[in-house]
Amino acid sequence: MYEIIKNRRSVRTFLPDKIDREDLYKIIDAGRLAPSANNLQPWEFVVISDDKIRASLSELCRWGRFIKSAPVSIAVFGDKNNPSTPLDCAAATENMIIMATALKIASCWVAGYRKPHSEPVRKLLEVPGRYELVSIVAFGYSDAEISMPAKRSLESVMHFNKF
Ligand SMILES: Cc1cc2nc3c(=O)[nH]c(=O)nc-3n(C[C@H](O)[C@H](O)[C@H](O)COP(=O)(O)O)c2cc1C
Repeated sequence: MYEIIKNRRSVRTFLPDKIDREDLYKIIDAGRLAPSANNLQPWEFVVISDDKIRASLSELCRWGRFIKSAPVSIAVFGDKNNPSTPLDCAAATENMIIMATALKIASCWVAGYRKPHSEPVRKLLEVPGRYELVSIVAFGYSDAEISMPAKRSLESVMHFNKF
């Protein structure tokens, strides 16, 4: 698990190869098994593989143009009336990314929470108004070799007992 977490990278270039349905289901399964406040599981996962919808989605997301080249993306929506929606859906998003990494599927998280494109994306995907977008993740195989960006050191982030 440590190796998977350590080797995960945000990847923004993808090969056209499709992801097996079984692997896609495993990724979504990992999302739905995430912890959530009061176990309310406020999430809904919209899987986008249609060429036209992928292209429209990529146009809406200024920082996610690569969505167009990823064979599949998953948009995570959560119940607008649940205050833990952004936290729960972020946990689900990370679970999916970690599962994908374990399956050798590359991914990149695209910001979705309360961004200018959040509502346009909801409408594009015909998601009812009681849900709000939290994240979009582009998934696909990739041969890109990406080194780890600068990360804060373990020593610099930890505090024992008191800050
Ligand atoms: C909440 C969140 C939003 C992000 N939004 C974007 C985005 O819109 N576009 C993008 O290319 N990367 C996005 N990323 C990926 C980050 O840029 C990336 O995680 C960071 O640069 C560290 O690189 P690493 O994931 O390879 O460790 C996002 C990550 C998170 C957690």
